[in-house]
Amino acid sequence: MNIIVTGASRGIGNALVRKLSADPAHHIIALARDAEKLDALAKACIKSNSEAHVHPIAFDLLTPDYSFSLIPKIVEVFDSIDVLVNNAGLLIKKDFAAFSDADFDALMNVNVKSVFKLTRTLLSFFARPSHIVNISSMGGMQGTAKFPGLSLYSAAKGAVSVLTEALAEELSDREIAVNCLAYGAVQTEMLAQAFPGYTAPLNPDKMAEFVAWFATNGHHFFNGKILPVSSSTP
Ligand SMILES: NC(=O)c1ccc[n+]([C@@H]2O[C@H](COP(=O)([O-])OP(=O)(O)OC[C@H]3O[C@@H](n4cnc5c(N)ncnc54)[C@H](OP(=O)(O)O)[C@@H]3O)[C@@H](O)[C@H]2O)c1
Repeated sequence: MNIIVTGASRGIGNALVRKLSADPAHHIIALARDAEKLDALAKACIKSNSEAHVHPIAFDLLTPDYSFSLIPKIVEVFDSIDVLVNNAGLLIKKDFAAFSDADFDALMNVNVKSVFKLTRTLLSFFARPSHIVNISSMGGMQGTAKFPGLSLYSAAKGAVSVLTEALAEELSDREIAVNCLAYGAVQTEMLAQAFPGYTAPLNPDKMAEFVAWFATNGHHFFNGKILPVSSSTP
């Protein structure tokens, strides 16, 4: 399968690329800003599986234009996409009153606008069938426990969740399934920075095991679904 994973330089995205690369049939584009970490990831994948196909693309999802700056790099690797995992994310934790306009823009741009822009830019490349997996958070689901300081992050993830449902409807005639995984706590740098001292029940490798299966198989079972993936928050 031809797979793109954003936010691959660290955390769950990084673990996901390593997990997917165990299968030599997968060609994986690993996208994030940090080129050194992506190169280290590609080397680590080859070390564990000499037939791994991991292609790092250093790209800032806040770049205004994707068509000229990103698409040529992607089509150098493959010209059709089976799976896109919109995993890159940003968490800023602050009291609501302390949030600046710039915080709002950063949270919405990385968590929501990049999902919109990347998906829109890549639309003509999706195979039939194919699968878009958007990554949300338990806080981005209606009726779940909410945490102080995460109001704007949760609102951004809520937008990702609902965008998933709406997009699945619009893309169904192209055989592109769109689903959303709303994670509970996973022990990554993002979580450690937001909740120092807290230990999550899952590590990135364990979560990546599930996500690797879901990204490559879930579209046969689900479409337009926001699925809670959490053993912590209700
Ligand atoms: N960890 C949790 O407990 C948890 C819970 C619920 C949901 N989530 C969600 O799960 C996803 C992965 O989380 P994580 O904990 O693994 O996060 P993380 O460790 O902070 O990793 C975030 C990734 O996003 C990339 N990224 C951020 N801004 C970017 C930009 N402008 N352009 C390109 N890439 C960018 C980062 O790479 P560069 O810095 O190299 O660009 C990094 O690889 C996120 O969407 C997060 O919101 C996580």
